[in-house]
Amino acid sequence: MKEQGEKISMLTAYDYTFAVLMDHAGVDVLLVGDSLGMVFQGREDTLPVTVDEVIYHTRAVKRAVSHALLVADMPFLSYQVSPEEAVWNAGRMLKEGGADAVKLEGGVPASRVIERMVDAGIPVMGHVGLGPQSVKLLGGHKVQGKTTKAIQRLLRDALAVEAAGAFSLVVEAVPWPVAKMISERVSIPTIGIGAGPYCDGQVLVHADMLGLFTAFQPHFVRRFAYLGEESKRAFTDYCKAVKDGSFPTLDESYSLDESALREFEEIESFIEEDHCL
Ligand code: KIV
Repeated sequence: MKEQGEKISMLTAYDYTFAVLMDHAGVDVLLVGDSLGMVFQGREDTLPVTVDEVIYHTRAVKRAVSHALLVADMPFLSYQVSPEEAVWNAGRMLKEGGADAVKLEGGVPASRVIERMVDAGIPVMGHVGLGPQSVKLLGGHKVQGKTTKAIQRLLRDALAVEAAGAFSLVVEAVPWPVAKMISERVSIPTIGIGAGPYCDGQVLVHADMLGLFTAFQPHFVRRFAYLGEESKRAFTDYCKAVKDGSFPTLDESYSLDESALREFEEIESFIEEDHCL
């Protein structure tokens, strides 16, 4: 797709229902991102997410996928401790979760692990720029690659990930001229998030682009729908309808056919006559 100039669309997916909609809509790549820790579990950051949790969500999304590439995110400490553990955990994403590939954060230091994974037959998507798993080290979710030194480091990171055998590269929270330069210098497709229009593809967290997550909106997010407001309205209307008795109507209930109804009325009068007690 990069060679043909066709942009790649990618979204996060954590459950079957949304994944069906995304797959049918033609989204190219579904990412079971460790962002599920914040979006699905309500945690402060992605750090507590476990391999088992990612596998659980990957299985659910897998059942929905008919054409999209399914990528499972490697959570914090699942690949940083040793290459052996990293290969084992990545392998579990494919064997137990049904993922087509894994994604992991990091540049030069991660490249050794990427090489081992690729050697083991595991397709890997890299992730450079802002790595949310390093949020404590970085002092927050901050834009990366703003100084000459940082830009040089970023390019080294991207080239190392490519050389290690990654098939694609997420570039997160990087000024667009820097992301453009990286996209031109690597032959693998770059997938941007907060990295401008010149990446080979784009990824967003689906809860952000659907307007489901409204507490905070990063500068780069475009809301393609306002499902948060619409859902809240529906929940309010539902509560009201239950409380005032307008839901459910008889049409929204199961009935009995005529003979069963007559039998039921006989049983009911039998019960009323206390024969049952
Ligand atoms: O976990 C995630 O959702 C991600 C994307 C934002 C790239 O890593």
